Amino acid sequence: MTTADTTLPILRSSVATDRTLAPMVRAPDGVRGVRLVDAHGRTIRDLRLSITDRCNFRCVYCMDPSARFAPSEALLSVADFARVARIACALGVRKIRLTGGEPTLHPRLTELIAAIARECPAEIALITNGSLATRSTLRRWRDAGLRRLTISIDSLRDDRFAAITRSQCKVATVLDAIEAAIAEGLTPVKVNAVLVRGVNDDEAPDLAGLARRYGIEVRFIEYMPLDSGHEWDASRWVSATQTRRMIETKYALRACDDDDASSTARLYEFADGVPGRVGFIAPLSAPFCGACSRLRLTADGMIRPCLFSQDEWDLRSLLRDGASDDAIAEFLTDAAWNKQAGHGVDSPDFHQPSRSMSAIGG
Ligand code: 5AD
Ligand code: SF4
Repeated sequence: MTTADTTLPILRSSVATDRTLAPMVRAPDGVRGVRLVDAHGRTIRDLRLSITDRCNFRCVYCMDPSARFAPSEALLSVADFARVARIACALGVRKIRLTGGEPTLHPRLTELIAAIARECPAEIALITNGSLATRSTLRRWRDAGLRRLTISIDSLRDDRFAAITRSQCKVATVLDAIEAAIAEGLTPVKVNAVLVRGVNDDEAPDLAGLARRYGIEVRFIEYMPLDSGHEWDASRWVSATQTRRMIETKYALRACDDDDASSTARLYEFADGVPGRVGFIAPLSAPFCGACSRLRLTADGMIRPCLFSQDEWDLRSLLRDGASDDAIAEFLTDAAWNKQAGHGVDSPDFHQPSRSMSAIGG
């Protein structure tokens, strides 16, 4: 990365207020209903299912305390999620990630994992805030077919953790969840952290230290304008490069040779050879859109090709109107075809999507 990575091209994050659902362009006949590719030459391999928009935290960079949720009758059923996953796998998807909101709040999570595992050859992963992930819940989910866990933690200090998450959860609970995930073999376990300037950016080295303590990957995600309160502003944003420099005041880092160009994270190892890695996910300072292989389904059944999409397409109506598997496959291939080339956050026309991260799925 260059020093340019420390400056941010965005000037504003105003919200588009007059959002209308754009019609989809049809995918060409050769791929329509056959495989998930987009008009920019990317293949979709990764389906993110936001299985609930609810959360027991209210992280400052994600959900404001007055966040409203979709009515429960708007949410997709276990059978709907499993069906979409099965059809997507037949179209080439290889990873299914369960996200939220907080996916462990889903009342039928074990059944949902089992239903997807039964129908799909894909690797099933889950991203959680760790508050409800104990050894026994993790074992149950693993036995149902879960393979990997990513856990978020943004501070190692209880008072700060409480201020960031606006929850009663203790840091120790999340650290226990990390240890439990390792013990239950949900590996490679990854940890995500979001730094907000003036809130927790001074903890970058300590959070990176978790990678050494557990021999795992800790990834720092740049704070994105996706918070439900629309409070994001550039002065609170910390770049990946700034984060890496802060970590290097405590631990010397070395870029990993085997860093996969298609991965979202730029990976570093510790120069002193202690196991564990630090990753930087820099959607704003070093966008990885060219390698993006994702499609997202929201808890209320909308397909979104990108976190920052202004467009989303209504799969729920199709599912509820008794559409055939072929019709759903065609819908998914059309949606994939319509994936935008990039998130456009650096464009003067950028508007923050009206949905927050928690209502899209991370
Ligand atoms: N910017 C960056 N990351 C975010 N997450 C949630 N909201 C934001 C945001 N505005 C992260 C969570 C979690 C992952 C799903 O996304 O911390 O690790
Ligand atoms: Fe919940 Fe995750 Fe959003 Fe925090 S970041 S409020 S844990 S969905």
